Amino acid sequence: DNQQFFSTELLDWYGHAKRDLPWRRHRDPYFIWVSEIMLQQTRVDTVIPYFHRFIEKFPTIEALAQAPEDEVLKCWEGLGYYSRARNLQAAAKQVTELHGGAIPDDLNAVSALKGVGPYTRGSIMSIAFNRPVPAVDGNVMRVLSRFFLIEEDIVKVSTRKSMEVLAEALIPEGRASDFNQALMELGALVCTPKSPHCLTCPVMQHCQGRIAGMETQLPVKTKA
Ligand code: ADE
Repeated sequence: DNQQFFSTELLDWYGHAKRDLPWRRHRDPYFIWVSEIMLQQTRVDTVIPYFHRFIEKFPTIEALAQAPEDEVLKCWEGLGYYSRARNLQAAAKQVTELHGGAIPDDLNAVSALKGVGPYTRGSIMSIAFNRPVPAVDGNVMRVLSRFFLIEEDIVKVSTRKSMEVLAEALIPEGRASDFNQALMELGALVCTPKSPHCLTCPVMQHCQGRIAGMETQLPVKTKA
């Protein structure tokens, strides 16, 4: 069916199309976590040099927990949304005190970390631990709303929740890490907001949004 087709083709495409990004070279949950926090409001190209500097300066969670706050903020200078850096350090302290300095392979424990919402928790659990937890952000909602022709307003919490149910059902057995990254990668490289590159899309054939000629009108998003 359509879901099976989508997951299989997307995973296959990711295998050859994925970018060589610094946080994809290690499975260290700390590196995954830092990269996901940085990527929340910032583009990949901008994040890369910051990511390198940050993990060089604070190579472990304990190093981050113990650093003076102004050094952490200095390392974040230019990235914006400084509460991300403050929360990251607060969470590093939580991890040091409660979990011996290692991010736990546990959904509830990860959810309890400062600054970690549904998207970040899903990305950490799936990318770092290969657990079948969905990681749905704006890019993923765009991809899903187009492929499955979902016309619900993505500003609504209920829409995001139903997309999470769908995204979880799509994860192939044992492939959560690659699959969730494949979804993000398709949204970043192919299924882009204004003029999607449908002709190079691995799932175009069965894309319900494209078949309906609605790809550029999706996702539906009212102004909040
Ligand atoms: N955007 C958010 N997370 C990402 C990731 N892991 N790779 C590429 N783009 C992303």
